[in-house]
Amino acid sequence: MPKRPDRIRLDTAAATLVFDLAQGCAALTYAGARLPLTCDLADLGRLGERAVAPNQPDQPQPASILPNPTRGNAGTPPILMWLENRPCALDLQLAAVQADVSEATLEFADELAGVHLQSRWRSLPAGLFEVRQSLTLTGHEAILLACASLSLPLPAWATHLRHFSGRWAREMRSTVTCLTQGPSLSGGSQGGRSGFGGGQWLLIEEQDTGEHHGRCLGLHLAWSGDYEWRIERADDSRLQVTLGARLDPGEIRLGTDRGFDAPPALLAFSSAGRSGLAQLFHRHVQEGVLPTSTRGKPRKVHLNTWEACGFGQSPERLEGLIEEAASLGVERFVLDDGWFGSREDDRSSLGDWQPRPDVFPHGLGPFAERVRSRGMDLGLWVEPEMVSPDSDLYRLHPDWCLHVPGAERATQRHQLVLDLTRAEVADDLFRKLDQLVSEADLAYLKWDHNRPLFPRAGRAHAQTLALYALLDRLRARHPALDIETCASGGGRVDYALLSRCHRVWPSDNNDPIERLPTLQGCLQFLPLAVCGHHVGPDPNPITGRSVSMHFRSRVAVFGHYGIEADPGTMTAADRAVLAAHIALYKHWRDVLHAGTLHSLGAGQGGYGWLAWHGTRGLALVAQTEYPQDHDAPPLVLRGLDPEARYRVKLPEPWPEPAASRLPHQARWRSGWELPGSVLLNAGLPLPLTHPHTAWLIELERT
Ligand code: GLA
Repeated sequence: MPKRPDRIRLDTAAATLVFDLAQGCAALTYAGARLPLTCDLADLGRLGERAVAPNQPDQPQPASILPNPTRGNAGTPPILMWLENRPCALDLQLAAVQADVSEATLEFADELAGVHLQSRWRSLPAGLFEVRQSLTLTGHEAILLACASLSLPLPAWATHLRHFSGRWAREMRSTVTCLTQGPSLSGGSQGGRSGFGGGQWLLIEEQDTGEHHGRCLGLHLAWSGDYEWRIERADDSRLQVTLGARLDPGEIRLGTDRGFDAPPALLAFSSAGRSGLAQLFHRHVQEGVLPTSTRGKPRKVHLNTWEACGFGQSPERLEGLIEEAASLGVERFVLDDGWFGSREDDRSSLGDWQPRPDVFPHGLGPFAERVRSRGMDLGLWVEPEMVSPDSDLYRLHPDWCLHVPGAERATQRHQLVLDLTRAEVADDLFRKLDQLVSEADLAYLKWDHNRPLFPRAGRAHAQTLALYALLDRLRARHPALDIETCASGGGRVDYALLSRCHRVWPSDNNDPIERLPTLQGCLQFLPLAVCGHHVGPDPNPITGRSVSMHFRSRVAVFGHYGIEADPGTMTAADRAVLAAHIALYKHWRDVLHAGTLHSLGAGQGGYGWLAWHGTRGLALVAQTEYPQDHDAPPLVLRGLDPEARYRVKLPEPWPEPAASRLPHQARWRSGWELPGSVLLNAGLPLPLTHPHTAWLIELERT
């Protein structure tokens, strides 16, 4: 048997993790910027040693990826179980290690209890680390209460937590909390889905980390069910972050034949601020998460019927929308809610996935043909996990929903949740979805999920796995089918779903003033390509705010473009602006979706990004508020070569009244030729005085 190494390291191109294995646990002695291969890990460990803090166990426990409460680690145990009906004091000790340059598998065992944990750490090509942990039992049966996916001692520079929170129509807003005081912080979800809280995405930062400078760690739990996270301060002042699936007591029963795979956790490090970190996550999604069938496929312009006609679908209404969409250059026509059963509002028909005869007298097949004859493909809204009490499905199978026998069945949005863990339910759904996709040759499903799971007791974990199985089955049958994950907007967004879908619906709120901060939160972890972004009606039905078509359409270019309004009700001028931006989006989508995204963090109520691919780039600067200064500061670009020269143009149509304040208009039309150093240092002084002004900026390396 080869001797177990005392230390191992895992590297990405820019980061290193060092584990010290000498003490029978896996101490994390370093997590940060990449160390040279010549670095002496033993010396690194010695250098990090400190005198034992007072009031500690006689054998102080090192900061480990598996804190051991049985030997005196003070925090919440990362693994909690009952063995033979009694709480179990687990003492997991490092038993074996296998490591190569990109992967380390650490085996821990408590032979007395008959419990084994495998902790597999991989460095991924995109520059992230992935952690997968699995529990197995050799002896008694057990009830698992918690099994963290990741438990990470935080480096001393970690002083701030940036996490994301929100609510319906206002998702992914970031909040910063100082970690240097206070005992512990925690968060999680309870509704059987990650919810609007956004807490399975965490950023750990040092004091003053910004968009482009400073150290930060990004963490994500690739799991669509309930989760929990904690940051705890030990008695010796060290911080430890823990992230994992939240389990109901009794939900997971373990036996010799039944282990537990914790959902994968992802971890990325950047010393170039949040924008550098976002680039790592984007690359990972593009190259390591999205289904291969969706990669590199141009993302089609959608017209979605929801904010155009709501439930009021009729043959005439839809025919009008098809014509309008085709004339604008739309490529995908999406029938949202209201196409099935007898669904005229949200009170009925979920589960009855047949087209409404009054709207589709000849079925969906001929309708899809009509859509295709106008140069578009067809997409459909479905909410497969739900059932309306007023539906044929419910009348036939009242026991198929999650319920407590004999108890009242509480609804939300007048609907109940189907129990996907029952084979007959999953089979029925698969059959119906398969038939729909086949009959109408659907190109896309908008897969919605509009209420949390209740009654949930002990069901949410299995329900999440059953959802994955259903999606996997459907994808295997229809590999070219695009699927969007939506849960009343961004109520269920994560990499586990993204590995089965092609995009997310970040929010029901299409008002760009609200969508921009939501997009900013999403773009920390998701590339532009997967963020659906639609031009909504005016005024916006959720906020009541009126925003010009110029602003709505320009902002929507940054994402996966769509229209969610009735172009037939727009003025000719607005339709022309919309058409121009659809054309612009098509011209630039390869850059937007395959390029590297740089945050331009414009400030003073402004948002900005630059997508750069090959020799071309497109930037957006969007001013939402009236700036504090007379004009917002010049837009300083990022990621360019200071020595290279760039042609810089402002594509038309230009926003009014801002355009009237733009000097040298002829040059902005024909293009300036400027050195990278000017763009990186002086910036572009665009008129941004008026709130709701957005500019797109084209760049080409000459
Ligand atoms: C949810 C979605 C919306 C829309 C409606 C339809 O709220 O988030 O985009 O599809 O359902 O009922």
